[in-house]
Amino acid sequence: KKRVVSGVQPTGSVHLGNYLGAIRNWVSLQNTYETFFFIVDLHAITLPYDAPQLSKATRSTAALYLACGVDTSKASVFVQSHVRAHVELMWLLSSATPLGWLNKMIQFKEKSRKAGDENVGVALLTYPVLMASDILLYQSDLVPVGEDQKQHLELTRELAERVNYLYGGRKWKKMGGKGGALFKVPEALIPPTGARVMSLTDGLSKMSKSAPSDQSRINLLDPKDVIANKIKRCKTDSFPGLELDNPGRPECNNLLSIYQLVTGKTKERFFVQEVALECQDMNWGTFKTVLTDALIEHLHPIQVRYDEITSDPVYLDNVLSEGARKAADIADTTLRNVYQAMGFLRR
Ligand code: TYM
Repeated sequence: KKRVVSGVQPTGSVHLGNYLGAIRNWVSLQNTYETFFFIVDLHAITLPYDAPQLSKATRSTAALYLACGVDTSKASVFVQSHVRAHVELMWLLSSATPLGWLNKMIQFKEKSRKAGDENVGVALLTYPVLMASDILLYQSDLVPVGEDQKQHLELTRELAERVNYLYGGRKWKKMGGKGGALFKVPEALIPPTGARVMSLTDGLSKMSKSAPSDQSRINLLDPKDVIANKIKRCKTDSFPGLELDNPGRPECNNLLSIYQLVTGKTKERFFVQEVALECQDMNWGTFKTVLTDALIEHLHPIQVRYDEITSDPVYLDNVLSEGARKAADIADTTLRNVYQAMGFLRR
């Protein structure tokens, strides 16, 4: 079976972008692939964070995976820091990562520019190496993520190839190893729609956990009245009618796409999208009501399941420890091979 891995940072609350860009797609992959979904708590400390909140956010994110439909009889769900191999492999990989590659990362450049050099820990720079380690440890085939992770995935692929070249193959065989590639070179799986859900208050910037205003995003756990209020106050425009794919109307395209994704009305009919037909003559007031109802209807069952899952903390503990055990089995094998190929003395 091909292998799939992915994760979300436990910072702030999980929002519609994380769900439509990533988590929702994980659910459809778990039937076909061997899947590993982790909560990347080690990534969450790369910007200033609130230590007492970290473990709570980690549990809550894990519970949301399950509430969204990740099925633990099929997928392994675990916490990144519970599998030691992630940090260990990261150190090994970092020795093979050119500094120039990291300096080029858009997310690093943006985040460090905002915070200023003195406020940024070096972990923000080496963040993509930890992400590469998350992926390469499992010899993953596919990594379902949103558009903003594309560059990190590209770096992961290049790093895999570089380490295979430097330490794999015949050299490794001569050292008494298996020979061949140390790492499988993974591919990003980015959905055709939903890969870049935009902010509710600005159709040109992406919905994000770190945006200061909570009005800019729909969180999966937002109560009904909060959802209604956010949609009521979200940014629109003053053109007549509603349409998809007009670059001059980013807010309109975003809201219609969200509607399309939460209702499942994505099929093309007579070459025109069903949603485009349904909404073309609506005014914003009418559409906002329709969208609010659709969002509430879609998120309600997730919220009910979330409450059920979190009402039994032992259940979640068991899921996470079982997940970590299965993950560590695979991760440790990869790590052992890499140590050997890189010439370390065996323990
Ligand atoms: P994170 O926590 O920022 O986001 C989690 C997932 O949600 C996607 N996403 C979005 N998709 C559509 N529209 C948006 N507005 C939006 N915002 C976020 C992200 O693309 C991501 O798929 N570095 C990663 C986490 C990570 C990871 C990994 C992912 C660490 N190791 C290994 C895959 C494999 C991150 O910070 O995602």
